Amino acid sequence: MTKRVFSGFQPTGHLTIGNLLGAIRPAVQLQDEADCVYAVVDLHALTVRHDPERLRARTREAATLLLACGLDRSLVYIQSQVPAHTELSYLLESTAYFGEMRRMIQFKEKSAGQEEVRLSLLTYPALMAADILLHRTDLVPVGEDQRQHVELTRDLALRFNRLYGETFTVPEAVHPRVAARVMDLTTPTSKMGKSNGSTAGTVYMLDPPADVRRKVMRAVTDSGTEVRYDPQDKPGVSNLLAVLAACSGRPVESLAHETYGALKRDTAEAVVETLRPIQERYLELSADPAELSRLLAAGAARAAERGAGLLAAAREAIGLP
Ligand code: AMP
Ligand code: TRP
Repeated sequence: MTKRVFSGFQPTGHLTIGNLLGAIRPAVQLQDEADCVYAVVDLHALTVRHDPERLRARTREAATLLLACGLDRSLVYIQSQVPAHTELSYLLESTAYFGEMRRMIQFKEKSAGQEEVRLSLLTYPALMAADILLHRTDLVPVGEDQRQHVELTRDLALRFNRLYGETFTVPEAVHPRVAARVMDLTTPTSKMGKSNGSTAGTVYMLDPPADVRRKVMRAVTDSGTEVRYDPQDKPGVSNLLAVLAACSGRPVESLAHETYGALKRDTAEAVVETLRPIQERYLELSADPAELSRLLAAGAARAAERGAGLLAAAREAIGLP
């Protein structure tokens, strides 16, 4: 049977090459063999302090970028335009335990030392589970950092099914072979993230070529001079090798460079070439905002239609009239 695929992208900031290589590219590849649905999960972006106008703009930018990356053969929509997500999320909050939510690594990291932790940051994995389960998803292409949330989704699906009868499909995470975790260029021991404030170490998908080159050329490399893939001892060099491998489609083992400088130049060019067609398509799509709005509204309508049966089944199973 054709597998069903779902993944979500948070518009908390501009999308990065971490998003592209860790999740979007693998998603583009799955399109030919599976039934794919991708959402810009704007409700998830409300879990941390945000600016309403900026959120709206970034949501639209992210949706346009997903289409520009080649996901236009899939169903692409904006999460908040499909109310079934929040409705199902409540049923899953009523299946989940406080203890398991509190133990999520991402919650612990994002809430550490904060005075004002939004309640939605704690319950966020229930909404993510709803996103996935709504579409009876088999496979969830995500970067490594989301593994724990997909595990929790499986636990919730199994628990709900056991308590109230077979309702949900139990999904599985899929990670890319290389670049499942693209690291920050200036701090190669932490993940490249759109909202971690490290603009020098983050390459955004809409960065002009000059910016990409500058950021990659200034990437922190390791002591020594040998170019070798060894994430433990050589995190900086290994990160560049992984990015180059993912962008060029060549295995890491086949990449040979004499110097750090040569590796950086090749990596910079590979990233620029990977981004070029995406940026061109982004400009084309942005030139017709009315058409874009129509596309996204049509996507949301189709998503709502697809999810209606599952939502009705879950409501019925849990005892709602
Ligand atoms: P987020 O930006 O957190 O909404 O993530 C959207 C998708 O991109 C998720 O599947 C993440 O796992 C993936 N992702 C985000 N940052 C990275 C990164 N630095 N390396 C690999 N995948 C990433
Ligand atoms: N939590 C994910 C992230 O931060 C985004 C996300 C929300 C997601 N819902 C999803 C990913 C459903 C996959 C499936 O990256």
